[in-house]
Amino acid sequence: MLAFGPRIWYIIHPFPAIDQERLMKNVLITGASSGIGYALALELAVRGCRLFLLARRKEQLEMLVKEIDQPSVDHQVHICDVSDLLHIRKVSAKIQQTAHIDTLILNAGVAGGGFDPLNMETEKIARLFQINFFGSIAFIQEFIPQMVANGSGIVAVTSSLAGYRGMPKSAPYSSSKAALNTFMSSLRIDLLDTGIQVTVISPGFVKTPLTDKNDFYMPFMISAQKAAKIIAEGLESRKNEIHFPKRLSWPAKIARWIPEIIWIRLMKDRR
Ligand SMILES: NC(=O)c1ccc[n+]([C@@H]2O[C@H](COP(=O)([O-])OP(=O)(O)OC[C@H]3O[C@@H](n4cnc5c(N)ncnc54)[C@H](OP(=O)(O)O)[C@@H]3O)[C@@H](O)[C@H]2O)c1
Repeated sequence: MLAFGPRIWYIIHPFPAIDQERLMKNVLITGASSGIGYALALELAVRGCRLFLLARRKEQLEMLVKEIDQPSVDHQVHICDVSDLLHIRKVSAKIQQTAHIDTLILNAGVAGGGFDPLNMETEKIARLFQINFFGSIAFIQEFIPQMVANGSGIVAVTSSLAGYRGMPKSAPYSSSKAALNTFMSSLRIDLLDTGIQVTVISPGFVKTPLTDKNDFYMPFMISAQKAAKIIAEGLESRKNEIHFPKRLSWPAKIARWIPEIIWIRLMKDRR
């Protein structure tokens, strides 16, 4: 029993203590020009973070820095197309020359639109994966070595509750987020004991330009500001997964256990 005790303790508390102050100091956010990323930048600025804001639309990022209104903090803005691996490499190198990044929030993403299996376009699906999946993991490649060398850091990706299970008309989007979930789950094991926190952010419906395009019912939709608060608190608590709103995310978690034969019957009228 005595020999078993420490093992249980290790399983419950697998991470070494980390300097919390340090973790949330320099924060890089992709997809910061709009929606969740924009709101999260505002929220983290209030919490004292220095921000490295990335997206393609520079004017939106500059507007964000103006709105943050902290002339004493040197927040940085970088144009970056996350579908371009070379561009990610160049921007990452430029940032690393000037600062050490403590937290990566890889949030840039696009929705797939209504998927039609009779009119599939693999090129379009590849482009979606290039942004939603490779556009996140390429940053992990660039920043992880430095974080491991320092023995601390947070790597977070914005996934989706849609990544839990195949959703109707959503094969490309759901699968891109499922790939991200599995990648992070593996990474979390590989980076255990390195001092790096690996976090998956799984939102339900959040009111942003992305969801403004949807014409279907989106239950329990919350504002981007509320989502940002939940995400910031989750990051500060070093959660492995930040899922919300609970009214939708808990049923979605339970639904992962429903047998496929029942799941397809439940979903068939939502096509
Ligand atoms: N809203 C929701 O209900 C919801 C739910 C679950 C998950 N999510 C996820 O949350 C993340 C943010 O979505 P959102 O709702 O905030 O959408 P949004 O308002 O449309 O913002 C998307 C962000 O991604 C950036 N982006 C898109 N393509 C890019 C590219 N090729 N290179 C660089 N940046 C790119 C956009 O910036 P530029 O256009 O300026 O480049 C923008 O800042 C996405 O990963 C999305 O899948 C959203």
